[in-house]
Amino acid sequence: MVTRSAWGRTAALMSGYSDPTSVEAMAAVAPREHLLFDFGWKFTLGNGADPAKDLGFGNGQGDFAKTGDFEFAKAKFDDSKWRTLNLPHDWAVELPFVRDEVQNSHGFKPLGRRYPETSVGWYRRSFDIPESDKGRRILVEFDGAFRDVLVFVNGCFIGRNDNGYAPFQFDLSDFLAYGKKNYIVARVDASFGDGWFYEGAGIYRHVWLTKTDALHLGKWESYVRSELNGNSAMLTVGTMVKNEGNQVESAKVRWQILDAEGKTVATAEAPAQSIAADGSVNFIATATLANPALWSVEQPNLYQAIVTVESGGKPRDAERVSFGVRTAKFTADKGFFLNGKSVKIQGTCNHQDHAGVGAAVPDALQWFRLAVLREMGGNAVRTSHNMPTPEWVEACDRMGMMMMCETRQMSSNPEGMAQLEVMVKRYRNSPSIILWSIGNEENQLQGPMAEQGARIAAEMVRLCHELDPTRVVSAAVNGNNEQGVSDAFDIIGFNYDLKLPDKYHQEHPNRPIYGSETSSAIGTRGVYASDPLRNTVNSYDGVVPWGETAEEWWKFYGTREWEAGGFAWTGFDYRGEPTPYGWPSINSQFGIVDMCGFPKDNFYYYKAWWGKDPVMHVFPHWNWTGREGDEIPVWVYSNLDEVELFVNGKSLGSQKVPHLGHVEWKVRYEPGAIEARGSKDGKVVLTDKRETTGPAATIRLTADRTDINADGEDVAVIKVEGLDKDGRLVPIANNRIAFKITGNGALIGVGNGDPNCQESDKAPKRSLFNGFAQVIVQTTREPGEIQIEAHKDGWDGANLTPATITIKSKQVELRPTVG
Ligand code: GAL
Repeated sequence: MVTRSAWGRTAALMSGYSDPTSVEAMAAVAPREHLLFDFGWKFTLGNGADPAKDLGFGNGQGDFAKTGDFEFAKAKFDDSKWRTLNLPHDWAVELPFVRDEVQNSHGFKPLGRRYPETSVGWYRRSFDIPESDKGRRILVEFDGAFRDVLVFVNGCFIGRNDNGYAPFQFDLSDFLAYGKKNYIVARVDASFGDGWFYEGAGIYRHVWLTKTDALHLGKWESYVRSELNGNSAMLTVGTMVKNEGNQVESAKVRWQILDAEGKTVATAEAPAQSIAADGSVNFIATATLANPALWSVEQPNLYQAIVTVESGGKPRDAERVSFGVRTAKFTADKGFFLNGKSVKIQGTCNHQDHAGVGAAVPDALQWFRLAVLREMGGNAVRTSHNMPTPEWVEACDRMGMMMMCETRQMSSNPEGMAQLEVMVKRYRNSPSIILWSIGNEENQLQGPMAEQGARIAAEMVRLCHELDPTRVVSAAVNGNNEQGVSDAFDIIGFNYDLKLPDKYHQEHPNRPIYGSETSSAIGTRGVYASDPLRNTVNSYDGVVPWGETAEEWWKFYGTREWEAGGFAWTGFDYRGEPTPYGWPSINSQFGIVDMCGFPKDNFYYYKAWWGKDPVMHVFPHWNWTGREGDEIPVWVYSNLDEVELFVNGKSLGSQKVPHLGHVEWKVRYEPGAIEARGSKDGKVVLTDKRETTGPAATIRLTADRTDINADGEDVAVIKVEGLDKDGRLVPIANNRIAFKITGNGALIGVGNGDPNCQESDKAPKRSLFNGFAQVIVQTTREPGEIQIEAHKDGWDGANLTPATITIKSKQVELRPTVG
């Protein structure tokens, strides 16, 4: 099914994705329908300041005066000049970069109230609702959009959402025209920001149309909790049933627990209760699961619970909930335990954008990103600093990555509590989540407003415990954790400052501790001599003044038994927060891998000390024309006993590899090769080599997967490399490459990992950056083939042989969609 590629284990790790139906899509069980509402939207930019350029909306003349008057959400409105696109969509990534220091943290994109012409987007679509749907409850569900959304249907205003990350839904039943065409419009306003990082703009997650009986399960009310007792697990299953019909109903709820093969392994039933019209009732039951296959990092075993509400002898609504059985425990003296086994959290913090696509990350790309982190030896991620996309959580559940799940707003105001409630309810069945985080670095609430902070945090922690008594609650704190918000936490997270945890541990021996955010090491992929004029940073594990190198933080967290481990800032580079330089840098340089997922050298530090396989990685590259005779630092990351370095066949001697460290030499440059030979128990077991290459002569294309799903959603991630005439990667190649995509697919983004590259993310061309670029192609819903051709673009003196790769797009069962 999945072809292994030169991307090593990434493809194998992604094999779980080959099922095109996500847990979210599978969540519906007949008689419920859950339809993907992503395809065939119309889109245009509006205007945040001028109603005349904003479909006439907001001219102050009784905009919301009467229900049904919004003409743009009716049949007559002409959207023929609007663009057609599919969701998820992020229009920010399509905008040009602007040199405006205020926009620095968001990646220099023209968003905000000073850019009214690029900060508002309108989405519009028609859809059919059959006559037979009358009497059902029909909801439109947004998994998340950035940021302020107004939804209209058939001329009626339906509702609004005012945050960039929490899902929201509206019941459309009263507003629909049954047996007719209906019109939905969403005005998305990205003028306000939530965070200090790139956040995108638009409907950047999936949208669904859900149809249920008037007697139905409450949204995200179903939960499965498990308690392990010897060889069995006691399951507590609960849900809420709502009666939106006109008559009292007598309903009961059944649970059917399925194992990974779909075999029923347990059942439970809650006796009938009567539910008043417009009322709701909670149901709860227990079941025993004999010999449960536990969820773990190595074996992420999952179960499904089918929850069915019955009335009058008929199933009226049903859904499928994915869950895992495991124990997760933080201790103050011995760190973290998963299923009773000590496990260090080897985590990274990550924002949610990727090269080429911004915040609108296709599901398969979520898997790809996670697979890269997994390949490095990572076993956990933190969803800094917001509620994640469902498919990222699902990928963690299915790949065996633990998660610290964080909400956006640390506040006990109604919005903050609503975001938190949705997050906990939405994800409390996910075994990957081992702790909730209610926020990050709230300088006011940790300091000057500590008194209020203590109250706010206590409220939020209480809500988490109430909705999910099985998990601990914490937050990422950049302070001593002695006051304010920290009083409320079950476990204590430290951001940076390695002086603090030891002291805290001594003084509070009963409080579990972990590194909520660490490192902030910086580096530009493939750069080995910092150049402030070019905004590049060498890759020898440098760091910003407030951070720690990879080696420093892991030597600290990795060696203290009481430390649960931690989360490095960051796994992937991300747009915005260009550090340590500003313009023309448009993204951060904190990533262990770049915006495309191409490893920087630190990747191999982690792989050596987090992973299980032997690692040998020598750097820098060996293309230093003009620097003959200069001393070049040569580093090796390895977990073997000893490394011997050879320069053009001559040994420079062996060095023992220090535990959690690296070895280095100073080598006078002469063209040729450096080779590191690593030995274990006196025997050479691995070598790694860098050679002086010629200029780029050919292009190589490699796909993460070459056999993907013709579902209009799946993607292939293509690695583009510049090779010399002997087939060696040219680590300094910066040639511009043009791409031609033909067949049943389309290009959805390009990138190269250069933090200073301001080329378009969407144009079919990209410069290589230090040898690499990336192209992301997405299938159509027609099976067949997709050809990606790469050839040189423009004249740069080189003569590059073009390359082609063919991706097979195979017929699959499609997710049910809105027609
Ligand atoms: C932290 C913050 C992160 C990021 C990081 C950069 O203080 O929590 O969001 O800004 O610094 O080093």
